[in-house]
Amino acid sequence: MKNQKVIDVYNGLVVKFKELVCEYEIDHNDYQALVDWMDQLGRAGEIPLFMDVFFETHALQEMYKSVKGTEPTILGPYYIENTPVVQNPGMLPQRENEPGDALYFSGSVKDVNGNPLANTKIDMWQADANGEYSYFAEGIPNDNLRGVFYTDANGNFEIKTVVPGNYSIPTDGPSGQFLKWIDHHAFRPAHLHLLFQPENGDRLVTQIYFEGDEYLENDVAQGVRGSLITKLEKHSGAEKGLKNDYYTAHLDFELRLQDKPVFNKAVVKN
Ligand code: BEZ
Ligand code: FE
Repeated sequence: MKNQKVIDVYNGLVVKFKELVCEYEIDHNDYQALVDWMDQLGRAGEIPLFMDVFFETHALQEMYKSVKGTEPTILGPYYIENTPVVQNPGMLPQRENEPGDALYFSGSVKDVNGNPLANTKIDMWQADANGEYSYFAEGIPNDNLRGVFYTDANGNFEIKTVVPGNYSIPTDGPSGQFLKWIDHHAFRPAHLHLLFQPENGDRLVTQIYFEGDEYLENDVAQGVRGSLITKLEKHSGAEKGLKNDYYTAHLDFELRLQDKPVFNKAVVKN
């Protein structure tokens, strides 16, 4: 079936591609090298990874630049649907001796007019303290540090987890080769992933980052937004009769109940 959007985007891409060929003197060998590298990307199963590291953030910035509320950022390739439902307040599924420091992450969820959003479904997932995701790294039980919970009657939540580690994208395949070409390291700052689904409205995909992280300014995936950075506060466990110190972090979220992208520019038709 004919798809006009595909036709329009393809035609637009050809115009921009021809400009790049001229501007950067792309010769036939360069073109062939690009095709070979894209072939390797597909064979290695790295197309979602590559797109999410190098393009998703830019697409989102354009899509949501004119809307209110908490800023969206990268979903990334590591989201898994239907992970275990946990209580609120509660704890993400984790190993008995989960490495890392305990973190109590709390937040409030409101609409853009300040009304609390009770019973909002929240998917949360993250890397462990070593920067590795369950389902994608060996030796970690499925659903580790992944769960779903619902905001309480006042739109609040508090979830116990661990402080995530910095994450490195894989460097031994074609995405790693690309990083060498552009002379960039492979790291993302430590982050928590959140996907909000309010009872009446569209979803918000976002992430939380922590002040002081060495990769905030040079995230390989450029996913950091200033408004999504919060403080990791350290607390003495001894004061509460606990064996270990622990951390808290908090962020308030504002959901657009219609968070469709808003494109302001007039559509130019030839
Ligand atoms: C992430 O946020 O975990 C992520 C984003 C893009 C590529 C890989 C991972
Ligand atoms: Fe991530």
